[in-house]
Amino acid sequence: MNRTPPSPQRAASLRREVARSVDAPASLLPVFNLLFKDMPSLGSSPRIVVNMLQRAGIGPRSSILDLACGKGAIAISAARRLRCSVVAVDACEAFIHEAVASATRANLAKRAAFIHDDARAFASRADPNRRPYDAALMLGLWGIIEARRALRPLVKPGGHYIIDDAFRDERLTRRAPEFHQIPTRAESLALLERDGDRVIEVDIPTPSRIRALNAALYRRLAANASAIARERPSLRPALSTFLENQRHANRLLGRELRPAIWVVRRAGFKKY
Ligand SMILES: C[S@@+](CC[C@H](N)C(=O)[O-])C[C@H]1O[C@@H](n2cnc3c(N)ncnc32)[C@H](O)[C@@H]1O
Repeated sequence: MNRTPPSPQRAASLRREVARSVDAPASLLPVFNLLFKDMPSLGSSPRIVVNMLQRAGIGPRSSILDLACGKGAIAISAARRLRCSVVAVDACEAFIHEAVASATRANLAKRAAFIHDDARAFASRADPNRRPYDAALMLGLWGIIEARRALRPLVKPGGHYIIDDAFRDERLTRRAPEFHQIPTRAESLALLERDGDRVIEVDIPTPSRIRALNAALYRRLAANASAIARERPSLRPALSTFLENQRHANRLLGRELRPAIWVVRRAGFKKY
């Protein structure tokens, strides 16, 4: 695979995208290792996703791709439990460093490869001669349309792609046009089932499960943020903005926005 380094402008815009993807001001990027300390998973539950992969038939001879893998919790858990091989990509260098260290500690470095790259660039330069993946994941980065566009061509016919993206609650957002660009559950299903693909499973956590998960994540982030603020007082305003962004997102999740993990089987059963 040919790889030219991104231009300085592209690298800067990628850093901003990384910060936005976790609702953080870009000024906090240099302390991401401390801000997300002791948080191997940044969103989706590795247990739930790996169970889904297993039900989709992923096993020792399978290869999977995780685009925007964060610190690699899901990639490592899949390599360990399902004994599949994993390629995992993320644009945050600090997260990739941690993922490599965790895979090495778990003795899984041979089965789980981590690449510091832009998901968009990685997907667009995929080698047409490479055997397609049995499954590809994008959990918590792009919306359904963009995530599907990146993942689907990388998966073999009959293989699976998994997307974690919220839909909007139709009833609660009927009079809230600011949410109307986000698909409802039925619209998400229709978007995913184009070209003969089938949604074979969807995990929609109950509002109480979301509240419990978000409360635990928020407590950890708040503790990490205060530790940083003590050492780096100049970052206090950015840390407050970050925590306010997290509270705002948590207020919406489980109400107007319903998180969902969609497992989609790509049409066709060509033999490779
Ligand atoms: C909400 S986190 C989800 C991480 C992981 N999928 C999980 O569930 O734990 C979003 C991730 O997207 C990554 N990211 C943002 N923009 C990216 C891009 N253009 N290419 C690759 N990764 C990106 C961030 O670095 C971050 O790790």
